[in-house]
Amino acid sequence: MKTKILLLLIVLLAALAVGAVNAQDDGMVPVDESVTGDLEVFSWWTSGGEAAALQALFDSYAASFPNANIVNATVAGGGGSAARPVLQTRLAGGDPPDTWQVHPGWELLGQYVDPEYVVPINDLYEEMGWNDVVPEQLRDMMTRDGNIYLVLAGVHRGNGFWYNKPILDELGVTIGETLSVDEFIAIADQIVAEMPDVAPLCVGDSGIWATAQLFENTLLGVLGPEGYRGLWDGSVSFDSDEVKQAMTVYGQMLDYQNSDHAALSWDQAVDALMEGRCVFNSMGDWAYGEFVAAGMEDNVDFGWVSHPGTAGSFMVVADGFVMANGAPNEAANAGWLSVIGSRPAQEAFNPLKGSICARTDCDRELFGPYHNWSMDSFSADELVASVVHGTAAPADFQQAMNDAVTLFVVDRDVDAFAAALVDAVAASGFTEAGM
Ligand code: GAL
Repeated sequence: MKTKILLLLIVLLAALAVGAVNAQDDGMVPVDESVTGDLEVFSWWTSGGEAAALQALFDSYAASFPNANIVNATVAGGGGSAARPVLQTRLAGGDPPDTWQVHPGWELLGQYVDPEYVVPINDLYEEMGWNDVVPEQLRDMMTRDGNIYLVLAGVHRGNGFWYNKPILDELGVTIGETLSVDEFIAIADQIVAEMPDVAPLCVGDSGIWATAQLFENTLLGVLGPEGYRGLWDGSVSFDSDEVKQAMTVYGQMLDYQNSDHAALSWDQAVDALMEGRCVFNSMGDWAYGEFVAAGMEDNVDFGWVSHPGTAGSFMVVADGFVMANGAPNEAANAGWLSVIGSRPAQEAFNPLKGSICARTDCDRELFGPYHNWSMDSFSADELVASVVHGTAAPADFQQAMNDAVTLFVVDRDVDAFAAALVDAVAASGFTEAGM
């Protein structure tokens, strides 16, 4: 099967190479009318911003492969927690989609590479020149034993802290380049005092990952990038004083959240922010996609700063697609991967999604103030991996952390929270295994 896929890739790449000579030097994948049939693309991109951005990738694909038919297979639910079990059932049953959405790191390597659900795409990287334009730190997260398995469409910054700008203007509050926990608490107290109907913090944790994200960002803020990394290589324990301090701060922040948090999804919490029912939201910059979809303007309707204490770090949440082992339509999928890794497709997708290009040669002028800020952060700041979005630790730990967070949101028991996470690290054993 692998040989067959390899052969198909070689044929397609040869066609691309010929086409590339004839194409203008605009980076677009040359038109190939010979690719036909269905291409099933599996993802969890269903919110307003996510769906609009996904459509931009589909449009880019259709421009190069006009005779192939995209089947948009989505399972709703932010963060993919509902989609992944559906996918696992299909993969275990030998019924893979052609391609699916994956985060690099443990999610890719543990859930899909180890069981051989995906095949390497080194040749595609070489042919498309991606080894020169995709940063090595990203490629490393998608590589095992010299084989690379994922094509990224974009890189989200997970540690965003978004706010309703008109409300803060009304309160006379200006957010500077950074925000500390104490500064946040002072503003939150002012909101409580002056606007009793408005919650300082917007949370939509009907999918528990969204409040786990608030916790993850708080861990990064309190521990700093070195300490945070230590959690994943085993040099920092989850019952250390610093982690307990982060848990305490997380609890303090939860005291300011909207009372209907458990009824809202992540994007409904962003809606609540836009509507002025609450003010701040700790979320990856897929939130930006919701602002764009609603016609909001950077620095006018909404603003952003790093989650308290996390300035100087970039929490990497990257999105990519794979080549299924046994993909029903390998040729169409090789075309899909070549398109989503191309500059024009990434320049169309990322402004709508909130992420930055996974390649270094996108035209900055096509992006607005937020994206340029995020690009600067990516190139200057410490890159750290998200556990909530599958990169820093394996799925069993991620699940255990979600369970522990679920309890903590209700009982606020720091010692029990810390003990649960220490146990989860030991049970998973990932710090010994390495990535
Ligand atoms: C993340 C994913 C993002 C965004 C978010 C909310 O896991 O990387 O692209 O979709 O979930 O659904």
